[in-house]
Formats: sequence, structure tokens, C-alpha cells
Amino acid sequence: MIQLSERLMAMEESATIAMSRKSRELKVQGKDVISLSLGEPDFNTPQFIKDAATKAMDDNFTKYMPVPGYDDLRESISKKFKRDNNLHYDTDQIVVSTGAKQSIANVVLTLINPGDEVIIPAPYWVSYIEIVKVAGGVPVMVNAGIEKDFKITGKELEEAITTRTKLVIFSTPCNPTGSVYSKEELQDLANSIKKHPSLIVLCDEIYEHINFESKHESLAQFEEVYEQVVTVNGVSKAWAMTGWRLGYIGAPKKIAGACTKVQGQFTSGTSSITQKAAIAAMEADPVSIKRHDLSF
Ligand SMILES: Cc1ncc(COP(=O)(O)O)c(C=O)c1O
Repeated sequence: MIQLSERLMAMEESATIAMSRKSRELKVQGKDVISLSLGEPDFNTPQFIKDAATKAMDDNFTKYMPVPGYDDLRESISKKFKRDNNLHYDTDQIVVSTGAKQSIANVVLTLINPGDEVIIPAPYWVSYIEIVKVAGGVPVMVNAGIEKDFKITGKELEEAITTRTKLVIFSTPCNPTGSVYSKEELQDLANSIKKHPSLIVLCDEIYEHINFESKHESLAQFEEVYEQVVTVNGVSKAWAMTGWRLGYIGAPKKIAGACTKVQGQFTSGTSSITQKAAIAAMEADPVSIKRHDLSF
């Protein structure tokens, strides 16, 4: 009899993936379904990115690649961070992964020991919880209700911190609420975070360009918490590249090195062709995203 591990048994299936499977099944049955499950942009990957992928294949970028990503890709991500987010990350602080989902899993596996608490403002993206549980961590939800525009304050964060708290995970713009933290609200969080120097905060910015509210701001811009923040982003949402599988982090060197080590044992680097195509996305003027972004 096959006995699955306790780790696996404690894990829930991804709710978004289950919903999207259900909607596909219903569509096959001829039902008219509007699927609000996976965060799938409603435009296609721009042609210039596809062209870069074709060129990568023609140039034979089809072999094993460096685990944290090609140097030229990490260089272009470093420039993107500076250009769009005013963040300085050297290339050895950047790790490219098979989607932002893997980036988040790498960080959690790298930092969390069994019993460590991870603070997650609720509502949250469902995978955060399951990734934390796989690592043996204890998710601690802090209510960010509608009356607070689905955001938490520095004071609320501090009230949730205990001696076991290791990590905070949140997204801005937020999936599922769409709320966007302003610079002042992030400064308020930073004021609290800096009082707890061993606390690490994962700021998930994958929805940077799906923003209906205000200017996108990054938590890592505040010098006093820069060494405590891991910035997560990727190409899935901004460039409609969900199927290409590429996410990345900008992080303190120690965390970037640790994530490279984890990834080196699980998946190695993400697709060589995707990486070369992502350089074209990184180097494109972000204003051009709007041209493809008919739904925003
Ligand atoms: C908040 C959030 N973070 C990360 C991801 C993962 O994105 P990727 O496709 O790069 O793995 C998603 C995908 O839906 C998401 O909603």
C-alpha cells in the first residue's frame, strides 16, 4: 500500500488550480463559464518577446543554464529594479526561478524551521499558507478587513509578532483584494519592522503592473529595512507570460545564496529560452505594457 508522507497529507491542493480545473471541465461540457480563478492576463505575450524566444532557440540557448539565471538576465533585472522601483540589487542578490511561486517557496524553505511563525495579512493568496506549512512553519493570519481597505498597519503587525515570528509575507498590489500600499503605509510598516532586526519580510510585487489604484511602491526602498526585505516579482502578470514560468527575487546576499542552493537541488535554473525572452521584457519600456493591457 502506498503511504504518502505526512508533509504531503497536511498540504491542501492549490485552490486556484482546483477552481481552474473545474472551470475547464465545465467548458468542455459546453457551459458558459467566467473563471475568476487563476490570475491570467487577458492579452497575449507581446510579439517582441516571442521573437526573442525564437532567436534564443536559433542561437542554441537550449542547454543547462546557471542555477540563479543567466548573467545578462540578472543584469537586466537589476536595471529594471533601479529604473522602475528605485531599488539597488547587485546581480548576486538576484535569483531567477521557475515562476514567482518557486521564488516564494525557495525563500520559505530557506528561512523557516518547524514551529517558526509566519505572519500573513488576510485575505491572502492561498499558496502562501500551504508553502509555509510544507516547511513546518505556522501561518499566523492578521485580519486586514474591508474597513481598512484590506491593509494592515505597523501597529497591527507589531501586535502579531512573537518570539517565534520569523517571516512576514504580503503582496502589494494584493491578490485577492487589489489593495495597494502607499509609500506612507509602507513607511509605517518599515518603522515597525526595523524594531525587529531578525524579522524578514517577503514583499510579493508580482502584480506591480496590475494596479487600479496608485503608484506602485516597494518596501525595500526604505534603507532602514533593506537588509530585512526580499522583493519578489516576475514576468507572468505584467507581460502575460504565465506559461513561460519565470519569477525572481532581489534579496540580501545571504538569502539569495541560500535560495540558489535550494533551487540547485530541486529544479536548477528555469527554461533557458524563457530566460532569454525575459531579457526582452525587462529591457522594454514599462509604458509599453499598457499597450497590451486593454483590460486595466
Ligand atoms: C500573489 C501571487 N504571487 C505569486 C504568484 C505566482 O506567480 P508565477 O506565475 O510567477 O509563479 C501568483 C500567481 O497567481 C500570485 O497571485
